[in-house]
Amino acid sequence: MTAEYQVNGAIAVITLNNPPVNGLGLSTRTAIVDGMKKALGDNAVKAVVITGAGKAFSGGADIKEFNSPKALAEPTLHTVINVVENSIKPVVAAIHTVCMGGGLELALGCHYRVASPGAQIALPEVKLGILPGAGGTQRLPRVVGLEMALNMIVSGTPVPSEKLAKTALFNELIEGDLMQGAQAFAGKVADIRPLPKVRDIKIDYPNHEAFLQFSRNTVKAMAGPFPAPLKCVEAIAAAVTEKFDDGLKIERDLFVELVQTTESKALRHAFFAERAAGKIPDVPEDTPARAIKSAAVIGAGTMGGGIAMNFANAGIPVKILEMKQEALDKGLATVRKNYENTMKKGKLTPEKFEQRVGLITGTLSYEEIGQADIVVEAVFEDMGVKEAVFKKLDEVMRPGAILASNTSTLDVDKIAAFTKRPQDVIGTHFFSPANVMKLLEIVRGAKTGKDVLATTMALSKKIKKTGVVSGVCDGFIGNRMVEQYSRQAGFLLEEGCTPEQVDKAVEKFGFAMGPFRMGDLAGNDIGWYIRKRRYVEKPEVTYSKTADLLCEMGRYGQKTGAGWYDYKPGDRKAYPSQIVNDMVVKHSADIGVERRKISDQEIIERLVFALVNEGAYILEEGIAMRASDIDMVYLTGYGFPLFRGGPMFYADTVGLPNVVMAMEKYAKGRHGDAWKPAPLLAKLAAEGKTFN
Ligand code: 3HC
Ligand code: NAI
Repeated sequence: MTAEYQVNGAIAVITLNNPPVNGLGLSTRTAIVDGMKKALGDNAVKAVVITGAGKAFSGGADIKEFNSPKALAEPTLHTVINVVENSIKPVVAAIHTVCMGGGLELALGCHYRVASPGAQIALPEVKLGILPGAGGTQRLPRVVGLEMALNMIVSGTPVPSEKLAKTALFNELIEGDLMQGAQAFAGKVADIRPLPKVRDIKIDYPNHEAFLQFSRNTVKAMAGPFPAPLKCVEAIAAAVTEKFDDGLKIERDLFVELVQTTESKALRHAFFAERAAGKIPDVPEDTPARAIKSAAVIGAGTMGGGIAMNFANAGIPVKILEMKQEALDKGLATVRKNYENTMKKGKLTPEKFEQRVGLITGTLSYEEIGQADIVVEAVFEDMGVKEAVFKKLDEVMRPGAILASNTSTLDVDKIAAFTKRPQDVIGTHFFSPANVMKLLEIVRGAKTGKDVLATTMALSKKIKKTGVVSGVCDGFIGNRMVEQYSRQAGFLLEEGCTPEQVDKAVEKFGFAMGPFRMGDLAGNDIGWYIRKRRYVEKPEVTYSKTADLLCEMGRYGQKTGAGWYDYKPGDRKAYPSQIVNDMVVKHSADIGVERRKISDQEIIERLVFALVNEGAYILEEGIAMRASDIDMVYLTGYGFPLFRGGPMFYADTVGLPNVVMAMEKYAKGRHGDAWKPAPLLAKLAAEGKTFN
């Protein structure tokens, strides 16, 4: 049963019981209505209490049912709420822990609501690209006021119940035993008539027209490509201007419109993708994890400092080891400066600043880090240097310590083989800036222990990262795919584009940054260094030489004041560079390519489908466990537009046969070999299937 029914004296209790969060799927909705029927038919019952078992009152509608027949099957959430609201016996919602979305809408249909302090109250639908579709936009403004409701619905942010204690949302906040208090409350109100209904409350807001217009303007400016926030305002406006039932209808129509949008599907995909990424089929959730109470980082460079900050932010003391005092001092000073900047922005209190800075210490001696529970190596991207470091770590680290490498491309199995404990070695690939970017690629070596993997996954949560597991290959999931993207970007320059044209098209598509602005930010020398190795290892792979020519000019990017673009001192804005454009045009002439006008559509197709095709290889080879993991890597580490759901999801929405057709077209052009569809892509396209 997904809801239980029990009678205690004159009070019937309906307890939602649909773990993990009492989602209001069809069976739960049916069970609530059945419970209500029993209560109404039992003369001994004077009032009903609805609550939730386990760790939620209710997390809302079952998102997995959306776009499926179950979502529309009777009793719908509307029907359930109608049954509750029209009950001739009072119904009390007993709210605790989590009361969100449809769960809150159900509570708003009850005649009374009591809650425990600390319950998270929200209408978070907007985060899934929809709006509350079961009366939330009509009822919430009636109990918490227009302004508060608008903030809650447009942001989707949870508000703790005690902050809402003074509003008409709650009749009582119950400090002690919730169920005891709720049943006592139900007993008190059992005979009061008429039964209060939220729908009957009038919204009184002077000059609401001006407020709503102001809200529309603000929300429009902030919503970007997402349609839902503005539709939320429209639905809330109807609560003020229309009769209750007309407002409900407007809300319903807007909900139906939104639930079918690609943006909403993409957001829901991302929601489940994030949760799926945490699951490793052969590493059960109860795999015992090792305790991580202290950490060490080798290398205080760009990445090392940021990685150390992650540990300190989670309250884990961390020692950074460097070769020379000067490099150590520089690294620690950068960390301090970063925290100071956060403090200046008001995002860190002086106490927390001291605490975090205090957790990060430096050393030049391996002996001092030997007792750490995990050590993350972030030295130069060079196998020789990594070899020396891992051999040393094998000597000094205590048994059971996790030895992690932040390598962005190198073979983690080879690194593991430098030690006598490959089971303890794992890749933890952070993204720059490591203290900011959400993604953590967790690279599972052939011999990585399951407990090491489980511990690292748990650690990723603790340090607030999205951990995605990747197998071992050159570049892992993200950088291996980005290589194909960068190759196409280079070819586009040779064939007729400027860096600015490519970046503009990519940014219009929704990426946070185009490939050339990104190169200037990260440092073009990094790619140059990696290409030099690849030219030797994979001589058959073709690249545009434009990026090498750029580096030969010393134009490494923002750090050298010049890259694909020009920069002015103290100004991060990218100015198109005549020198670079001339270099690009000359290069086309040198290699005998006639430049042509290239459309934005071609730019996007070539860049994004290059990602998709490599993603398909990665999936087929088992480097990624699922297509949605690849999407998470791109959404959280590469600025892929969230409203498009990630490259693999995007390909699904374009239609895989269309992707293959476009690739066949590009296969006829220069470097056509890049456009051979991965067997998995060709197969899915032929079968009319999708990646996700
Ligand atoms: N439907 C289906 N499954 C849900 C769900 C929902 N509404 N909310 C959470 N889950 C599932 C998750 O997928 C996950 O499943 P898994 O263990 O199989 O991966 C599990 O519940 C636990 O989720 P979390 O890992 O997120 O657990 P937390 O304890 O960290 O957070 C939560 C719990 C705050 C409820 C969080 O899951 C959340 O924010 N959920 C989304 C809530 C939401 O958006 N509700 C609105 C739904 S739309 C709606 O109600 C429409 C209505 O207006 C008509
Ligand atoms: P960096 O050059 O900024 O820093 C490396 C630091 O390691 C330097 O301070 C150097 O003094 C120190 N170092 C070198 N050898 C050492 C040794 N034997 N013992 C102790 N310290 C030593 O390099 P960065 O950018 O921080 O990269 C570090 C690692 O992280 C590389 O493997 C790189 O591929 C990877 N990475 C880099 C990203 C980036 O955007 N910079 C992103 C993700 C991974």
